[in-house]
Amino acid sequence: MAKPAPDLMERIVSLCKRRGFVFQSSDIYGGFSSCYDYGPLGVELKRNVKDAWWQSMVTGRDDIVGLDSAIIQHPEVWKSSGHLEGFHDMMVDCKECKGRFREDHLEDRNKCPNCGAEGMFTEARAFNLMFKTFAGPVESTASAVFLRPETAQGIFTNFLNVVNSSRVKPPFGIAQIGKSFRNEITPGNFVFRTREFEQMEMEYFIPPGEDDKWYEYWIQQRFDWYVGLGVRPEKLRKRAHADDELAHYSTGCTDVEYRFPWGFDELEGIAKRGCFDLTQHSKGAGKDLSFFDEATKERYIPHVVEPAAGCDRTAMTFLVDAYEEEVIPNEKTGKEDVRTVLRFHPKIAPITVAVFPLVKKEGMPDKAREIVAALQDVGLRTFYDEKGAIGRRYRRQDEVGTPWCVTVDGDTLADGTVTVRDRDSMTQERIAADEIVGSLKQRVADWKRG
Ligand code: GAP
Repeated sequence: MAKPAPDLMERIVSLCKRRGFVFQSSDIYGGFSSCYDYGPLGVELKRNVKDAWWQSMVTGRDDIVGLDSAIIQHPEVWKSSGHLEGFHDMMVDCKECKGRFREDHLEDRNKCPNCGAEGMFTEARAFNLMFKTFAGPVESTASAVFLRPETAQGIFTNFLNVVNSSRVKPPFGIAQIGKSFRNEITPGNFVFRTREFEQMEMEYFIPPGEDDKWYEYWIQQRFDWYVGLGVRPEKLRKRAHADDELAHYSTGCTDVEYRFPWGFDELEGIAKRGCFDLTQHSKGAGKDLSFFDEATKERYIPHVVEPAAGCDRTAMTFLVDAYEEEVIPNEKTGKEDVRTVLRFHPKIAPITVAVFPLVKKEGMPDKAREIVAALQDVGLRTFYDEKGAIGRRYRRQDEVGTPWCVTVDGDTLADGTVTVRDRDSMTQERIAADEIVGSLKQRVADWKRG
């Protein structure tokens, strides 16, 4: 009997492992549940995600500056921020199978999704999501510290430092990319929900009263960012939170959601945080965190609009959205073949261009190496491969989403031209080898999802 086809997520997870995007963490020890390591291609993918975000938030504008704050902060930070008191999930246990579940994730609050037992749930209990550890050699209450559950608080605690050192004035933002940790009760869906993850957050400080204007602005900006990097707009939506979904600090929040194989789920949240955080830290630290506007002679605590995205979720979205299995005719056998292709935007693709000598002789490898060096020199991520049939080499690149392959063949040595093969259309074009750098840069800039 034929084996049933694995579902889409299984195929993507398997490709990620096979081709070096994402591995189960501690694999040689049997893996550690819900922890993942990014392999050679995954790390490039994630770096591209972060670079694209930083470009859109910091490098490409003049009203936002960057920051990189510590993961472990003064324990008082989490008291002031409300995380010690309010950052928890309500959780229930099944008395039958001992399974533990997030109450808000249960479809049926009577019947256990694990063992099917009815009416066996305990009362819901609050479970704080922060990881606790100890700083220094003594494990005592006095030395207890937390791993940050969001990067945002490092931004608020540095508000004064940035204002005093950087000539910024509301409206302005502080952006940060870094690891956060949450002891999630139900991690899952591959890298979608894990206990250690990377966030890309920006706190936009504004004069009070401008909240709605900037809220709408950032919702649209962030939605457009995904579309601009090739995500299919019909798979994205904006969803405003109901009042009972709002985090303890927020007065309004809209998520950008993507339709994953299991349904729409959150990619990032754009939240109105009002003056909650700066007010709390003013009180907690006993420092004045207001801003004095020299022009209007007004003093106020800035309000905040925060777009907070997940780096791992974004990388996963690009993977899922790019994944396609395409049926194409096989010219040799006359039958049909399935081509697996990742249609990444070139700015997101781990490898931008692969360069092949058609055969390993007649000076072709040397010429190909010369082209590789020229491409690497201008910062295009380039991969050299001289092994195997050329058709198979193209397919291997399709499977990891390399937008272009350049092949050096006999004609190259005679007339100085090379073949550029396009991942999406599979068409081939001959161009002069010395125009390859310019041509590829142009193709990166011009690329549109077909
Ligand atoms: N500072 C606001 C904040 O942290 P959040 O909605 O809790 O808001 C922001 O987190 C983003 O971080 C989420 O939209 C998601 O992309 C990512 N994120 C949160 N928890 C995560 C987890 N357990 N695993 C992976 N990504 C996560």
